[in-house]
Amino acid sequence: MTSNTTLRVALVGTGAVATAHARAVAAYPRAELAAVADLSREKAEEFADRYGIRAAYSGLDEMLAVEHPDVVLICTPPAPHREQSLAAFAAGAHVVVEKPPAPSLRELDEMRAAAAAAGRQLAVVFQQRTGTAAAHVRGLLQSGALGRPLVAVCQTLWFRDADYFAVPWRGKWATEGGGTTLGHGIHQIDLLAHLLGDWSSVQGRLWRLDRETETEDVSTATIVFEQGVVAQVVTSAVSPRETSSIRIDTQKATITVDHVYGHGHENWRITPAPGFEAEAPEWALPDAEERSDHEPLLRDVFDSLLSGEPLPPTADAPARSLEIVAAIYASAAAGGAEVTPEALAAHPTHRDGFESPVADLRR
Ligand SMILES: NC(=O)c1ccc[n+]([C@@H]2O[C@H](COP(=O)([O-])OP(=O)(O)OC[C@H]3O[C@@H](n4cnc5c(N)ncnc54)[C@H](O)[C@@H]3O)[C@@H](O)[C@H]2O)c1
Repeated sequence: MTSNTTLRVALVGTGAVATAHARAVAAYPRAELAAVADLSREKAEEFADRYGIRAAYSGLDEMLAVEHPDVVLICTPPAPHREQSLAAFAAGAHVVVEKPPAPSLRELDEMRAAAAAAGRQLAVVFQQRTGTAAAHVRGLLQSGALGRPLVAVCQTLWFRDADYFAVPWRGKWATEGGGTTLGHGIHQIDLLAHLLGDWSSVQGRLWRLDRETETEDVSTATIVFEQGVVAQVVTSAVSPRETSSIRIDTQKATITVDHVYGHGHENWRITPAPGFEAEAPEWALPDAEERSDHEPLLRDVFDSLLSGEPLPPTADAPARSLEIVAAIYASAAAGGAEVTPEALAAHPTHRDGFESPVADLRR
């Protein structure tokens, strides 16, 4: 695409997360949100009115046929992500799809294959990767400035009450695909993997401690990363004081980020180990701050689509965190046994979905 092209963007699924997409497109000077679609035409029209969007449709196929968008933003629940991505690629569009990219690895494989066959990009929204602090810390870790990373703790302690799970599609394997690990923990697990790279093994357990769900309301896992880091991961939907946090201890420092749904520089700390205090000023976060958000993610993706460059690190590796989550479920199904990437690639059940036994400890 030439440098003066404006991307014609279309969005499907005008629910809660779509507002973040509409704001992000509006903030990008070389993109126009030309049309939106939702199963409910009324919802689509109301959304179009609110954001000054020209056209509203009740189906993706009609929108693709009429609008010929360059990019489709998929903001529907996970179940239709595969089918909608394939339709968008067949119509010649790039796809930006909300997390989780698909309810199974098999479906994500199909989406990636369709993108490759069409010569189009598939970007997944994991906006926790964005922001100047995450980029800075990732750079420090990759350059070796902090020594080797050794041990990590990753927590998603969120609170979802009984009313949240009373919505019919929530808490069920068939309609939600997984529990709090797939729905909530995947954000922090994705950021952890963005910072530490590829994984080499996962052991996991699923627990039902309080909520009326089929799926887990808590999970615990150990992830070993290829570069020799051991991470302990807890994900919960039953924790009243909410926190999302990552801690990575390296040979020279402890890195922490503590936040709930998004982070700025104030959420990050780098604490030197004894003897490395003199190096600490070199690790300081940059003066210019950008918070994690949908806006920098879509900006970076649109920049790469317009320039023809590969997707940015904030939107590449679309399968890694879904694979880690799948491995937690696969491990739980095997009583907590170790699952490697090779075992997951050939797994007899867990490429097609994540349904697994949950230990019920409700009293
Ligand atoms: N990145 C984030 O921080 C974040 C936050 C919230 C949700 N999400 C993700 O975004 C996605 C949507 O979540 P939400 O909370 O906005 O859901 P939502 O229920 O508020 O909105 C989904 C919308 O999609 C529409 N829809 C459903 N099926 C459709 C279909 N086949 N064709 C057209 N429209 C259809 C629904 O009518 C609804 O308006 C999920 O994958 C969710 O995990 C991401």
